[in-house]
Amino acid sequence: MFRTHSCGEIRMDHVGQEVTLAGWLQKSRDLGGMTFMDLRDRYGLTQLVFNMEVDAPLCEKARKLGREFVLQVKGTVAERSNKNPQMATGDVEVNVTSLNVLNASKTPPFTIETETDGGDELRMQYRFLDLRRKPLMDNLALRNRLSIETRKYMDSLNFFEVETPYLIKSTPEGARDFVVPSRMNEGQFYALPQSPQTFKQLLMVSGYDRYYQIVKCFRDEDLRADRQPEFTQIDCEMCFVEQEDILDTFEGLITHLFKVVKGIDLPAFPRMTYAEAMSRYGSDKPDIRFGMEFKDLKADTAGKDFKIFDEAEAVIGICAPGAAEMTRKDLDALTDFVKRPQIGAKGMVYCKCNADGSFKSSVDKFYDQEALAAWAKTCEAQPGDLILVLSGDLDSTRKQMNELRLHVGDQLGLRTKGEYRPLWVLDFPLLEWDEDTKRFHAMHHPFTSPKKEDIEKMKTAPGEVRANAYDLCMNGVELGGGSIRIHDRQLQSEMFDLLGFTKEEAQAQFGFLMQAFEYGAPPHGGIAFGFDRLCAMFAGVDSIRDFIAFPKNNSGRDVMLDAPATLDDAQLKELHIRLRD
Ligand code: AMO
Repeated sequence: MFRTHSCGEIRMDHVGQEVTLAGWLQKSRDLGGMTFMDLRDRYGLTQLVFNMEVDAPLCEKARKLGREFVLQVKGTVAERSNKNPQMATGDVEVNVTSLNVLNASKTPPFTIETETDGGDELRMQYRFLDLRRKPLMDNLALRNRLSIETRKYMDSLNFFEVETPYLIKSTPEGARDFVVPSRMNEGQFYALPQSPQTFKQLLMVSGYDRYYQIVKCFRDEDLRADRQPEFTQIDCEMCFVEQEDILDTFEGLITHLFKVVKGIDLPAFPRMTYAEAMSRYGSDKPDIRFGMEFKDLKADTAGKDFKIFDEAEAVIGICAPGAAEMTRKDLDALTDFVKRPQIGAKGMVYCKCNADGSFKSSVDKFYDQEALAAWAKTCEAQPGDLILVLSGDLDSTRKQMNELRLHVGDQLGLRTKGEYRPLWVLDFPLLEWDEDTKRFHAMHHPFTSPKKEDIEKMKTAPGEVRANAYDLCMNGVELGGGSIRIHDRQLQSEMFDLLGFTKEEAQAQFGFLMQAFEYGAPPHGGIAFGFDRLCAMFAGVDSIRDFIAFPKNNSGRDVMLDAPATLDDAQLKELHIRLRD
């Protein structure tokens, strides 16, 4: 037998037993007569002991081993005199009687322990070594558990996992496609799917009733902490359902995962319309772990000769609880924060609600104590609170205030780790006006159905049409989104018209789907969750990168493979690609 136990399982019960272990040498400490080593495998660490007095040649051999050597050891389990309560196996050690070096290792470029000295780039380059570290193993173990529990839940509800192709024609989901040249079809390209959207709809037309897939998706978009160019969705679709059925089913999935994986009972998920989310939080994925909701200060600020507010479409205030103590320096830092180009506010006004009931604002020249008291009333501010105000056009001010709210929420410690606040955001607009192209875009995607009562408005006021579309967000993160789909050929065709497709373009791009709709398409709808984001949420971190075994860096590169890379001339020629000099 190669090993009798793993490095994570030996306990006091095993004292006196002979065991064989295999793993990597994490650390070695030489204390003259004794050498101690930590042997590591996926399951944990076990302390090994070599004793000069018992077996000098063995001890000499052990001393020559370097970090990350692969070893097989045989020995007897003993109780430790110096116990380590931080370690699961910390009560015991193994007195080694035989040592077999299975493989040598070069000295690793960084320490392979929970805390490491390796920089980001270096760890990405040696990802296979970084993956040996416990925090990364724990992340991937969590991911594995979540995928198993997802499959169990979906299976229990009769969902059917079907794989869909990766070499497809582009589906318009808003991002750019990654494309793959076709050798056999000169000048033609496949696209990698941004999601299996059209395929899952076709499976509904085929009568599969309930589909899901844990599936890779590819999007060539700018990267952020919660975005990777290739990421994974839990992609789902159901026949003969209304929005309520989808919300129920998938609230069930998320509740199940929290229960079995984290032991947390989530209460029924609250719901909010998109319009309400935007007016209360300036975001379609509000973090509702804390208040600081938007208050309209337009009326309270008007007519006092403060031009900036008088001329602004919107004047929005938030109340930061207990923050009146902020210093001038703190407030300047907040102003600098909102003035950063990524946020783009021109300035920020504040009003301190002092403990004695008086007010001190940055615009005292225009607003007397009575006027400021009116702000405080509207913002529901108490003595000791701080009111922060931004103004400008409605959309930008909301966006900027959303950033400020989250930033101040972080500063005040209001975004409590370990607290999970899911929220369904409903009734998204069907369309979004794009100033650059002077056209409407589908806010979700072109297959999303308008609300029945708004269909009339598709002709008269398209911008006001609401969709049967929903997102699930949690703690300010969009975990998933979906919609009830159009299943009527005529309505789908009208949707393409609205989006500015000519009949020919619509036919060329989506003829297959429209044709399918002519052969008995059932009413259907679905949702997709960002699986990497779900993993990061469960672990309580913002970045999804360390929940993916081999992720890309911020420039979309795999630094370990050094991809993307150039192709040699012969390969390019075969693909009919000529590069410009
Ligand atoms: P959507 O585009 O909203 O919907 O994507 C669904 C979910 O996928 C996650 N996500 C990402 N995660 C990591 N990196 C990315 N680049 C990335 N992009 C998206 C998000 C998001 O909520 N076909 C539709 C779903 C449907 O209508 O059923 C779709 O893909 O968590």
